[in-house]
Amino acid sequence: MYICICEQVTDREIKAAINEGASSLRDLRNELGIAKECGQCGHCAKAMLKEHADHNRSERPPLPKQAPSCGSTDLFPLFGHAILASD
Ligand code: FES
Repeated sequence: MYICICEQVTDREIKAAINEGASSLRDLRNELGIAKECGQCGHCAKAMLKEHADHNRSERPPLPKQAPSCGSTDLFPLFGHAILASD
C-alpha cells in the first residue's frame, strides 16, 4: 500500500527502513524522500515509527510485512489517497 503518494513509497519500504534503523521522520525523509511535498504521509509514518517503538519496548518480534494499522483513508481526509500497490 502506498503511504507517500507524492514519492510513491509503500508501507513495506517504510517498514524496512525502520527495521534497518530509521528512528525518526527525519530519517525516513532523508532515506526515502517521504513528507517532502504535501506532508500528508507524515502522520502515517509517525504512527509506524511509534508502533515499532512500542513493539521494541515490549520485546516482541519485528513487525510483519503487511499494511500498517493506519491504512485507513481517515488519515488522508483531503485526498483520500491510501492506494493499494499493484504488486
Ligand atoms: S504523500 Fe508524502 S509528501 Fe505527499
